[in-house]
Amino acid sequence: MTISLGVIGGGNMAQAIIAGVQRTAPDLVNAVVAEPNAETRNTLSTMGINTVNSAREVMATNDYIMLAVKPQILPAVCQDIASELRPNQCIISIAAGITIQSIRSALGDVSNPVIRVMPNTPALVGEGMSALVSDRSLDAQHREAASILFDACGLTCWLETEDMIDSVTAVSGSGPAYFFLMIESMVRSAIRLGIPPETAKTLVVQTAKGASAMVETSDVGPDVLRQRVTSPGGTTAAALKVLDDDDYGDLIDRAMIAARDRASALSKDA
Ligand SMILES: NC(=O)c1ccc[n+]([C@@H]2O[C@H](COP(=O)([O-])OP(=O)(O)OC[C@H]3O[C@@H](n4cnc5c(N)ncnc54)[C@H](OP(=O)(O)O)[C@@H]3O)[C@@H](O)[C@H]2O)c1
Repeated sequence: MTISLGVIGGGNMAQAIIAGVQRTAPDLVNAVVAEPNAETRNTLSTMGINTVNSAREVMATNDYIMLAVKPQILPAVCQDIASELRPNQCIISIAAGITIQSIRSALGDVSNPVIRVMPNTPALVGEGMSALVSDRSLDAQHREAASILFDACGLTCWLETEDMIDSVTAVSGSGPAYFFLMIESMVRSAIRLGIPPETAKTLVVQTAKGASAMVETSDVGPDVLRQRVTSPGGTTAAALKVLDDDDYGDLIDRAMIAARDRASALSKDA
């Protein structure tokens, strides 16, 4: 199978996805990017990616059209390409907060396959997490092609219903920022405890990677792993007591509910 892919918008996310594909499935994907900004086109060219100036130019020759522009301009882009859309051309949107129904409607109430994806920023380093969903049953070929594109920059999962995407946004979409905050806070504390900044960063980042790898590979859950490193009366117990006294679990719960509710409000406004 060769996936002929026209990408509209050649910014950070598009570059991450195509770079991933170039790394993992170079023979499977033939990509061209529509990008109005000359400087960005130049960056794409240096990555070996073919470019054109306008969205309409990718419509005639590609079976898959990826919408990778900012959500605010997505409706205008859809209206611009609507007249060029062919039946069975598969639309893949990565725009946050824009529902499949509003994409269909901006394209002129089409019945083409439409896949909505919630990727996240670690895609930029090949460690992304993307959740994919469609509102209709998809051909095996379309499903496989979308999986190939997003597997190339990390892991993918398919959701059964689109309404789950707001919760996914609260978990993996906004999630990197929760970990950035944890790392930032731990590095700051480490420096206050007298450790030089570069060493503090190395200690914290490697500890985060190690903990994450243990959760990923262990046959027990993070709760058991936590108990195993927490001796009664020890140092870890002293730290965890402070977090527990301020109900850390409840704080995370409330933060993620706030993110889910905000995602839901934004997609209703869009
Ligand atoms: N970054 C993330 O972590 C993340 C996560 C999940 C989802 N997303 C979604 O991914 C999408 C892209 O995000 P991004 O961070 O890659 O944004 P970005 O870097 O701003 O990329 C968007 C690109 O589209 C170009 N563009 C503007 N109008 C266009 C048009 N009419 N036709 C073709 N291209 C056009 C922009 O050019 P100019 O710069 O000249 O405007 C820009 O280069 C967004 O919808 C966002 O919601 C991003």
